[in-house]
Amino acid sequence: MKKVIVSAPGKLHLAGEHAVVYGKPALVVATSLRVYAELTPGARVKDDPYVEAIIEAFEHKHRVTVENVAIRVSSGVPVGAGMGSSAALAVALIGALSVWHGFPWQPQVIADLSYLAEKSKHGNPSGSDPAVATHGGFLWYRKEMEFLKTLWLLPMKYPKSFPRLTLVNTGRSEDTGALVSHVARVRVRDEERFRLLLDDVESATRSVAAAIHDENEKAFRSAIRESERLLETMEIVSYAGRSFIRQVEALGDVAKISGAGGRKTGSGVVLVFSDAPGRVAALAKRLGHITFEAVLGGEGVKIEQAVA
Ligand code: PMV
Repeated sequence: MKKVIVSAPGKLHLAGEHAVVYGKPALVVATSLRVYAELTPGARVKDDPYVEAIIEAFEHKHRVTVENVAIRVSSGVPVGAGMGSSAALAVALIGALSVWHGFPWQPQVIADLSYLAEKSKHGNPSGSDPAVATHGGFLWYRKEMEFLKTLWLLPMKYPKSFPRLTLVNTGRSEDTGALVSHVARVRVRDEERFRLLLDDVESATRSVAAAIHDENEKAFRSAIRESERLLETMEIVSYAGRSFIRQVEALGDVAKISGAGGRKTGSGVVLVFSDAPGRVAALAKRLGHITFEAVLGGEGVKIEQAVA
């Protein structure tokens, strides 16, 4: 039986989220957690508007009709938590549809179409999430202009000597679009102050990349802390999120949110860097948050199975 399975990774923003919407660079990294899109012959069920938007972008670009295909999605990436689950879904599904229709494997086309699908979902995305879900690894990404997005795959690994990464899901009740819109309002309130804030984010993003490259743990800790403070100034970290991160810092560890954040309840997934993951897990458990792990630097979009 004809069958295609394509997977794509969820990501974490090590630094530069939100600022990347305004043309600043972001350091994004693919994780070991993945979304899988499986296609087999069958009836197409049209029940998810986002899946429909992805398919529409594909049909429009390639001038084809997607029919007689059953789509099954499975995911190890937490949804709405700052890990790029919607971009990973778009990349995996567009990749799978490309193989299904016998098109050449063109990662940049997959990323571009996924960007269009994301746009239909949350208005003004930077494109960093589909880029890293497509290319994998550690990515230095910048949206210079709508038609010019630059990216550089950094040949780096998360140093073994650095503190262990624990992910803590603090939950969130808003979607990415609402949080991106909130930052737009913060900007309008004082454009000059926002411009300076963006410059500070850019320096922190550079410092995070340099610290990983140079394996400088002290510089890494301080750049992560700075990156988190700047996200708090953008008003996208909730009281609960900040309170959790302050408690982590009181233990001598560092932490930051990833991606859009969250203002009302939690702030999505928090990256906690600690030499004693046990104490992070204990704190998270006390607060009722789920803790999990992921390896940084996952593979990009990948054909898992293709049976003609
Ligand atoms: O929370 P996520 O995984 O949707 O990430 C959003 C990242 C932002 O920088 C806030 C928006 C964007 O499009 O880059």
